[in-house]
Amino acid sequence: MGYERTDIEGMAGYVYGEQPDDPTVVKLNTNENPYPPSPAVRQALHRFDADTLRRYPPATAEPLRRLVAERLGVSPEQVVVTNGGDEALRLAITTFVDPGATFGSTDPGYSLCPVLAGVLGCAIEAIPVTADWSVPGDFARRLNACGAKLACVVNPHAPSGTLVDAGTIAALAGELDGVLLVDEAYVRGHDLTALLADHDNVLLLRTLSKGYSLAGLRVGFLVGDAGLVDPVLTKTRDSYNVDAIAQALGAAAYADLDHARETWRAVRQERRRLVDERRRRTSSSPKSSAITRRRRSSTVSGNAASSCAISTHPAWRRACA
Ligand SMILES: Cc1ncc(COP(=O)(O)O)c(C=O)c1O
Repeated sequence: MGYERTDIEGMAGYVYGEQPDDPTVVKLNTNENPYPPSPAVRQALHRFDADTLRRYPPATAEPLRRLVAERLGVSPEQVVVTNGGDEALRLAITTFVDPGATFGSTDPGYSLCPVLAGVLGCAIEAIPVTADWSVPGDFARRLNACGAKLACVVNPHAPSGTLVDAGTIAALAGELDGVLLVDEAYVRGHDLTALLADHDNVLLLRTLSKGYSLAGLRVGFLVGDAGLVDPVLTKTRDSYNVDAIAQALGAAAYADLDHARETWRAVRQERRRLVDERRRRTSSSPKSSAITRRRRSSTVSGNAASSCAISTHPAWRRACA
């Protein structure tokens, strides 16, 4: 018996995505961008003055926060910059779900969520997605029935890639009694920020890990009504949650939208080629690039594998088989 809390001792931790060194491995398991970040990131790194590291970084990550707000057409008070999307999730659960209360998600969803909910002493209600991987019509009703304070929908959904349209998200937000967190880690051009004007219970999660090729840097953000963002910004987050280098390089990457878009175009093109080629070889195609395997071993690791462990959904079982 160790010194940790009894529930921590009894819980399984998050299974990190395997990070192999072998250059022959086609690494798709944690959905990093295969293309490098903007050249502006390299320049910002070279320009970065190490002497400034003796001081704390801007506490609210200005000017990156303002840049995000400007791009999304919201006020800076509606944005909180975080140490990756994972911290954003942890902050959302910490801020909105009382210990012992319920956190809702789809099943499968992002496999870190049940771990975070467990660490924070929350119950989790995971509602299976439908056979076509959509959010079920009774999602909000079922979560309201168990008093869920926060519900997370990954959109586009991981691992299937299914996109829930803005109208459905708006209807969900209108029906849910608690906060709706839309995890847009894999956002691809659609924009739900217009919903924020009408729904004070919607929080959008974005990350620079995937679309901006910065998984190694750890920058994400939450966007929502100022009333939702304020307690995260002023109470639950660490005072200096995003380090100075991450702020500087994150701002450089985020400012170069053209470069990011170019990598998205290349990824889409390569995905089409991969699917076509697989279809040609096996006459059955993978539903999503998120479902991946190592080339020479049959191990599935990272998000996909740990989602397998929590999911009982038949479609997901088939995908993992
Ligand atoms: C669905 C989903 N949400 C959020 C994240 C968090 O990303 P990060 O912490 O790298 O910003 C991931 C990362 O794999 C993810 O798959």
